[in-house]
Amino acid sequence: MRVDVVTIFPPMFEGVISQSILRIAREKGTLDVVLTDLREYTLDRHRTVDDRPFGGGPGMVMKAEPVVKAVRDLRAQAPEPPGRLLLMCPQGRVFDQAYAQELAREPRLILLCARYEGYDERIVELLKPERVSIGDYVLTGGELPAMVVLDAVTRLQPGVLGDDASAVSESFSPANEGLLEYPQYTRPAEFEGLKVPEILLSGDHAKIEAWRREQALERTRAQRPDLLEGTENQDA
Ligand code: ADE
Repeated sequence: MRVDVVTIFPPMFEGVISQSILRIAREKGTLDVVLTDLREYTLDRHRTVDDRPFGGGPGMVMKAEPVVKAVRDLRAQAPEPPGRLLLMCPQGRVFDQAYAQELAREPRLILLCARYEGYDERIVELLKPERVSIGDYVLTGGELPAMVVLDAVTRLQPGVLGDDASAVSESFSPANEGLLEYPQYTRPAEFEGLKVPEILLSGDHAKIEAWRREQALERTRAQRPDLLEGTENQDA
């Protein structure tokens, strides 16, 4: 998968893509991240990417020309596959695991990081990106949301998490019936007087599985009852 990121802060991404799973995915060739500095597409000496809003009001607005030029240029340089264009914005479709799974199947994503108080609406009219929000709160820019999307889709690429496929049983995944994940324990079997539930040491896999499902349900009921609404587990 290729992920293009258009941002005025390319260095913000360097830490994230050079560590952990993202680093491994890039080394394996599963993930290709191409960072594009939006300022390269400005026309003036000061490399201006924002300006005051027409009609007045507080804050600055991200200009349309550099963003439109950057996306067109990226698509001209690497036309295939054209890629799904995403604009990070608190007014967008809320990012969740199902959305991550949908995006993870794409061969290419182009992530546009909006900055400042907003962006010129003609960016949307001309490029027709889908707006993606990572939740109902406002950050200072789209860089952190873009990193969130990049991380979530990378770990879903085949082979990235290894053979035990831990993404299968995790919270929100279809294989886990959309439930939160059950509690996990590792060694030592006793820590500060707290013992690991006996059943996990029993070696009885059927019982362990039943216990885990019950725990997952209980946890979901307690923490996120909204996830059970309209499912077979609603009254369980
Ligand atoms: N930019 C600022 N806040 C955001 C959010 N919550 N999601 C996506 N992009 C954003």
